Amino acid sequence: MAAPNLETVASLCKRRGFVFQSSEIYGGLNSCWDYGPLGFELRRNIRDEWYRSMVRLRDDVVGLECSILMNPKVWEASGHIQTFTDPLVECKECHHRFREDKIEGTTCPDCGGALTEARNFNLMLKTFLGPVEDEGATVYLRPETAQGMFVNFDNIVTSTRKKVPFGIAQIGKSFRNEITPGNFIFRTREFEQMEMEFFCKPGTDEDWHQHWIAYRHQWYLNLGLTPENTRLRPHAKEELSHYSKGTTDIEYRYFPTAVGENQWGELEGIANRSDYDLRQHQAHSGKSLTYTDPYTNEKYLPYVIEPAVGVDRCLLAFLFDSYHIEPTPKGERTVLKLHPRLAPVKAAILPLARNKPEIVEMAKRLTADLRGDFAVAYDDTGAIGRLYARQDEVGTPYCVTVDHQSLEDQQVTVRDRDTTEQVRIASSEVRQLLADRLRPQ
Ligand code: GAP
Repeated sequence: MAAPNLETVASLCKRRGFVFQSSEIYGGLNSCWDYGPLGFELRRNIRDEWYRSMVRLRDDVVGLECSILMNPKVWEASGHIQTFTDPLVECKECHHRFREDKIEGTTCPDCGGALTEARNFNLMLKTFLGPVEDEGATVYLRPETAQGMFVNFDNIVTSTRKKVPFGIAQIGKSFRNEITPGNFIFRTREFEQMEMEFFCKPGTDEDWHQHWIAYRHQWYLNLGLTPENTRLRPHAKEELSHYSKGTTDIEYRYFPTAVGENQWGELEGIANRSDYDLRQHQAHSGKSLTYTDPYTNEKYLPYVIEPAVGVDRCLLAFLFDSYHIEPTPKGERTVLKLHPRLAPVKAAILPLARNKPEIVEMAKRLTADLRGDFAVAYDDTGAIGRLYARQDEVGTPYCVTVDHQSLEDQQVTVRDRDTTEQVRIASSEVRQLLADRLRPQ
């Protein structure tokens, strides 16, 4: 099968209710997107899987949820006000704006016109707190969730008695006034991050960095990303963020139709932030963020390893990777081979004859019975072939069909999305089958 491109995936997303353009009836808003019923479920499952792997399964990471607006001094201390910038150039002819580091040559990629000198453009979005729009009331929409973890470091140590090494994890919206957003949901101005700051003793940071790179890479593979479509790429010195001692990106092949390096895009960054953030906040706030080892009384500022990923980019990678067009005896089918734990709908219950009230009733009863434990869907709006095709296209791993025979023997047919194989089991066993297949390995 030819690799899908962004347009194919975006078109499926719109058609089947994964992703819509924001405010579409008003012509949309550049680079803003809404997640429809299936997209919402998929995002929720991605968040849950991340949280489970990063917090629930470990005893050394705790969760946190911070406000999006923070005291502006946070952004002075973190360095974002001074250095969170991209080099902006503008075409003197058509006035289109570009990131200098993302274009080739010195003439406008749109009209060939001459470009201005680059100037630093701060990516933080501003707003005003309170009724007076003056300088004193300016606050920023956070450009990363990370700072919430740093400024709460002492609160967490004191309230939870966690000992270094330990981590703080957060999922939440971040905002950046990107100069050139685009590629569907790949680069947007509003997006959601899943970040974890892991505090460790200086000197152990390199080992922890390697640990988290491997742990995070494995998470994607466990959830079914094709290994060849992922790679690890250490940053060159000159591309490191202002806070980073070393960063390795997990990249995904988002752009398979592009040439060479351009096929790859950042999915997740895993940075060694050293003690940069705690040191800065300690200096700017005047509050000690020094950690005292409870066993040795040794005092130090912990180093931080940070795995950081966008929910939206994650969703795009999983959609892309799972998108297949396969030949069938009657033509072809589009199928999303999403990992069952990520699939928005786990099972569809389908009555084979929708004009037979007893069959419909049995199918509806089974749906109602499963609903409390699994995301299930009932559908009787078409012939069975069409119903299967619809479920394949949105990645539903199991279709459960109720037919005439079911009324006699209380058995149903369960069809597997990927193999299309069917097994006949007691209707009362469907719950257990789903529980078994959805249990994490
Ligand atoms: N706290 C570190 C940090 O924010 P980053 O590499 O700038 O690091 C982390 O962002 C992740 O957030 C990226 O790997 C990407 O998945 C996601 N991300 C960043 N900017 C984004 C944008 N404009 N649109 C969508 N996702 C974005």
